[in-house]
Amino acid sequence: MRLDKYLAETAQCTRSEAKTLLQKGRVTVNGAVCKKGDTQLKDSDTVAVDGQPLAYQQFVYLMLNKPEGVVSASTDKRDTTVVDLIGDAYPRRELFPAGRLDKTSTGFVLLTDDGGFAHEILAPKRHVSKTYTVVIDTPLTEEMRKGFAEGVTLADGTALSPAEVSALSEDGLVVRVVLKQGVYHQIKRMFGVFDAGVNALHREVIGPVALDDALVPGQWRELTAEEVNALRAAAKPKN
Ligand code: URA
Repeated sequence: MRLDKYLAETAQCTRSEAKTLLQKGRVTVNGAVCKKGDTQLKDSDTVAVDGQPLAYQQFVYLMLNKPEGVVSASTDKRDTTVVDLIGDAYPRRELFPAGRLDKTSTGFVLLTDDGGFAHEILAPKRHVSKTYTVVIDTPLTEEMRKGFAEGVTLADGTALSPAEVSALSEDGLVVRVVLKQGVYHQIKRMFGVFDAGVNALHREVIGPVALDDALVPGQWRELTAEEVNALRAAAKPKN
């Protein structure tokens, strides 16, 4: 890869900003100042800006705590999107949400620019589970629990795969739901089959990775390499 392209991608700057860094002699390759943007880098080269080595990241993987009222899209004419919340932290990346939460729902949204990874995580056959805390408007019943475990058939005839639901509060109004599918409005429609409404829905966990509880609504952080690997492992085809 050319040095100016590498700089723009790793230092998250534009090509012209990269050019300025080069002209000012702030960039070194293997310790020697290099001012030529068209220098071809080898895998073993170490590039540094102001003495700080850069690590090339092929893709970006983020964990966001989505607030209510924000839409799970890259752009929207009316509403703030999950990608808007990332601001200009990754100006040269085309981030998108890998999986959606409703506008009224909150919690863990994964954002990436790695289409292959998103596909693996979302493919229905890969069965990557998602865990939600849900507030319902009528207490959880044994009928609901059994119905979820057997697989709910939605009003339009869609037969869903088995899901888990368990009470988190004594009154049965706060429940945990674990899904291995992602059908539009799935949890709301599942409870709707039992004439129960959903008052709040928060995604806590995707596969083996839990939403970092240090993130307040609207905050995000990069996934660690361990978290990305754990998600990849969870999405491996099962025999
Ligand atoms: N199920 C829903 O109904 N809404 C969500 O946002 C996620 C799952």
